[in-house]
Amino acid sequence: MKNAFQQVFGTPPAGVWAAPGRVNLIGEHTDYNDGFALPIALPHTTVVAAGRRSDGRIRLHSAQRDGTVTELELAGLAPGTVSGWAAYPAGVLWALREQGHAVGGADVHVDSTVPVGAGLSSSAALECAVALAVDELYGLGLGAAELAGIAQRAENVFAGVPCGSMDQMASLCCTADAALWLDARTLARRQVPFPLEDQGLRLLVIDTRVQHDLADGAYSARRVACERAAELLGVRALRDVPAEGMTTALECLPDELRPLVRHVVTENARVTEAVSRLDGGDAAALGPILTAGHASLRDDYRVSCPETDLAVSAAVEAGALGARMTGGGFGGSVIALVRDTEAKSVGEAVKGAFGAAGHRTPAVTAVWPSGGAGRIA
Ligand code: GLA
Repeated sequence: MKNAFQQVFGTPPAGVWAAPGRVNLIGEHTDYNDGFALPIALPHTTVVAAGRRSDGRIRLHSAQRDGTVTELELAGLAPGTVSGWAAYPAGVLWALREQGHAVGGADVHVDSTVPVGAGLSSSAALECAVALAVDELYGLGLGAAELAGIAQRAENVFAGVPCGSMDQMASLCCTADAALWLDARTLARRQVPFPLEDQGLRLLVIDTRVQHDLADGAYSARRVACERAAELLGVRALRDVPAEGMTTALECLPDELRPLVRHVVTENARVTEAVSRLDGGDAAALGPILTAGHASLRDDYRVSCPETDLAVSAAVEAGALGARMTGGGFGGSVIALVRDTEAKSVGEAVKGAFGAAGHRTPAVTAVWPSGGAGRIA
């Protein structure tokens, strides 16, 4: 990384920072409803080498792109002015300055192993690595939750994607061998031990290769519908709808909003149940909770697609303890919890089912709960 930076910018970087992508075990589409989530950080990371510049400009280069260096004037940054991948790092600098932090220019070289468009939060990983780098370059001393807020604002306002807080919190706050319990309303969090190997388990990520794009409107449509439902129910957010008596409470809502609320309420309960199973030392018990979560995302929240549905059903039929789509949906990835003895056969079965259905071969990778973002050199 240091050499690559030097080749592009002509000087050595001041440091190198890495931030991971994530998969969410359970608690999907709950973060912007002030609810709970349970992500883990992936071993896949976005790495940023960076150095200060004194002329108020940022220069951005990515090993995954064509060699072009994007050069921008900090003072001229505004939402809508930068498109493509550069909007994420530029948005972080913009968000920091907008909140009054004394941040100047920077040279930034990016390299990443987080697949783009696979629902594994490549954009959050990029934002968080840049946020950490700039925080240190300019001695801001911000904490993880503050940096996550900056990264989320960059995505929401600068890049125009109305995501919640989960991805950025996961990238910055996860620790190895644990899932991160997150309360998206208060940002309270706890590391919940998730020792896969000790229990003879594996977590597979199945990338369906159906490009998922949160900017395409379906995600924000769900979000707006949830806000409307909360307003009609007279609660601050759907997190405040009690599970007991829910069916009666929902009768005042238009038909199309009821299943959305049902998903959020039952999904929050699934997070609580999953945490209690993990606290009890029984990671295998997550299986049926994952599969129930998928049914809810498919039937009630309607954010799955034929490929994610097929990956889940084929994995479960082949002996997975449980499986579900992860992230925003409309494509992207599925996670499957499997016994290690069955990891290979489940992966093969899913690939076989995709072949038989005429879909592209999915990429199947075993992952483990990895550490969150930090300086690596
Ligand atoms: C995307 C968003 C997150 C979250 C998930 C769904 O990953 O970026 O904030 O809403 O979708 O749980």
